[in-house]
Amino acid sequence: MERIPRHVGIVMDGNGRWAAKRGLPRLAGHNAGMKALKEIVKRASVLGVEHLTVYAFSTENWKRGKEEVSGIFKLLILYIDRELDELHRNNVKVNILGEYRELPDNALASLEKSLATTAGNTGMQFNIALNYGSRAEIVRAVRAIAGELAGGALDMDGICEQAVSERLYTGGIPDPELIIRTSGEKRLSNFLLWQGAYSELVFSDVYWPDFTPDELEKSIEEYQGRARRFGGR
Ligand code: FPP
Repeated sequence: MERIPRHVGIVMDGNGRWAAKRGLPRLAGHNAGMKALKEIVKRASVLGVEHLTVYAFSTENWKRGKEEVSGIFKLLILYIDRELDELHRNNVKVNILGEYRELPDNALASLEKSLATTAGNTGMQFNIALNYGSRAEIVRAVRAIAGELAGGALDMDGICEQAVSERLYTGGIPDPELIIRTSGEKRLSNFLLWQGAYSELVFSDVYWPDFTPDELEKSIEEYQGRARRFGGR
């Protein structure tokens, strides 16, 4: 494949509906979603994607039932337990976007292990958005700028788009050329709002657990067929 996007963002939506369609509990959908994620990470890395960012848990997801929330964190731990060795072998670097330090201790320990193990890797960067909300992320950057301004480390002329970009969780990461959302919903839901200003949006009708590597390639092909003008002609 030619013209592979450097950065792909994915809103992994539809786990609950996938489970409901089969008469299964919601967590069975998330479990199937975790399996889908494994394969997508592998294929994205093989295709030469430099950054893969997945929306795993939003700041709004705490509103779900306690059991579902703790179930998602258990799956996260399981995912890392099962996949960390292979991620490391494949030179994938794990990175977390969001206030992940507020996650339960066992999930935090698992995340920190994945960060430490893969810190020196130079292949695809796998950004997991956890306890992530894009508006909160922008507020955090504004606060950082205000603090630096007050402390004299930054002056008014230094406040520019780049200054904001650098202070987001994604500082140093190129903006996503492509954002994919599964399950037929057509919203950004507080995901990469600043970074996605010029992203191509591709909506897939399949529920996340059914989003296979071939579906990923189809989404990339749809992106490749689009003309990107960035406001020009
Ligand atoms: C959205 O589907 C999915 C989530 C909120 C959780 C994503 C979790 C995983 C893919 C599995 C866990 C893996 C890791 C690495 C955390 P939904 O529940 O909103 O689906 P619905 O809209 O059909 O109800």
